[in-house]
Amino acid sequence: MKRFSIMVVDDEILTLNNLKKALEKENYEVILSESGEKALELLESYRPHLILLDLVLPGISGLEVLKKVRETDREIIVIMMSAYEILEKAVEAMKLGAYDYLLKPFKLSDLKATIQRALDTLSLRLRFLEELEKEKSRYYFGKIIAHSKKMKDVLDLAARVAQSDRTTVLLQGESGTGKELLARAIHYHSPRAEKSIVAINCAAIPENLLESELFGYEPGAFTDARRRKTGLLEKADEGTVFFDEIGDMSLALQAKILRVIEDGTFTRLGGIQPVRINVRIIAATNKDLAREVEKGNFRSDLFYRLNVVPIHLPPLRERREDIIPLALFFMEEFNREIKRNFKGLESEAAKVLINYSWPGNVRELRNTIERIMSLYQAETIRFEFLPGEIRQEINPDEEKILTELSQNWPTLEQLEINYIKKVLERTDYNRSRTAKILGINPATLYRKLKNWNL
Ligand SMILES: Nc1ncnc2c1ncn2[C@@H]1O[C@H](COP(=O)(O)OP(=O)(O)OP(=O)(O)O)[C@@H](O)[C@H]1O
Ligand SMILES: [Mg+2]
Repeated sequence: MKRFSIMVVDDEILTLNNLKKALEKENYEVILSESGEKALELLESYRPHLILLDLVLPGISGLEVLKKVRETDREIIVIMMSAYEILEKAVEAMKLGAYDYLLKPFKLSDLKATIQRALDTLSLRLRFLEELEKEKSRYYFGKIIAHSKKMKDVLDLAARVAQSDRTTVLLQGESGTGKELLARAIHYHSPRAEKSIVAINCAAIPENLLESELFGYEPGAFTDARRRKTGLLEKADEGTVFFDEIGDMSLALQAKILRVIEDGTFTRLGGIQPVRINVRIIAATNKDLAREVEKGNFRSDLFYRLNVVPIHLPPLRERREDIIPLALFFMEEFNREIKRNFKGLESEAAKVLINYSWPGNVRELRNTIERIMSLYQAETIRFEFLPGEIRQEINPDEEKILTELSQNWPTLEQLEINYIKKVLERTDYNRSRTAKILGINPATLYRKLKNWNL
């Protein structure tokens, strides 16, 4: 069990000592402060989970202390203590972000229950933040392999657009080029990272269900609608909506989505009241949306609304420098997952991989590596492990390029160094901002830089 720490701030020494004794019995770590000034000074170097804060203090008041704490820290729980006469102040404290208040004199059992409840909430929140960190690191930009200039430019643009939290992004690229991966990375590196990203696959949900899935419905909207149902859009409020395969959305639905984008409102099916939401929209498609507009399959007004920051994910065959780094990256992944010990590729095999056209792009490459690694136990991927269909004839003119590309691949570490260097340059060597953009904690970044003597 985690041991929680509590700071008690009160000007009566007797109260302080009594509380200390009682709380230590409950196995909390307790630190005392007899004034607001002292508390703020302590807080500079010590961060408790919870503060029990007296409202009336001789110097700076409890409310001042609360305000200061809130300015710098959203996570510390503050419970106010006050005498009955100044109930109004206690109400004000709640508005300023206090978790609860206790009227003096209070029973010890009430105090314990209030603290317990607060720390339960905190535990949940801490667990949520931990999950979020894990999720973030899965989508951290440094883990998107980008060795080619084309992909590096894509990542640069995505990292920049992530920071502006309302900007609509349109991701276009062939199937398997990494659109969903990039959409999630953008979300998890945006100011909305703590809220949800809701992915809606416009091609997979049947047309007649899509509308009720998106907007939800009111009771009685149709025969089976007994209760209100919240739609996916509402679930994404304050977060990000990812419209995948937007090119497959019907014209009728496109009109409704346009309204959501234009004024941030929609109505549930069978409802009258407009529902207001605040979302960032990221849309993706493997169709050429401008062409779909010309053909009359896609509304031009919606296209222009979506196309605020277009990002084009190039097919793998147009960035062949990425093939081997990706293959190595997936080898590492499957070494861990299916307990293999592959270390590299024979150069003949590497040449074949680079030469192949990869119509299914990165996904096809990943599947190919997975299949080979599950079928064979070896240290290197050899030519004869490769499935027949990818061993395409090598054009003699290409031979030289292929040899070069197959011999000079960077290690994953080099890729990471390059990426981190780049972010450092962009942030004027501000380490904490760099760590934030990378989605790693500053200590990890510091360790990496030290290892590489940077
Ligand atoms: N640059 C990359 N680095 C690492 N992994 C990648 C990269 N690009 C794609 N992948 C991986 O390839 C697979 C396919 O990517 P993703 O699902 O994002 O593609 P997509 O463009 O959404 O494809 P589709 O249009 O078919 O839905 C995923 O497993 C993803 O993690
Ligand atoms: Mg996809």
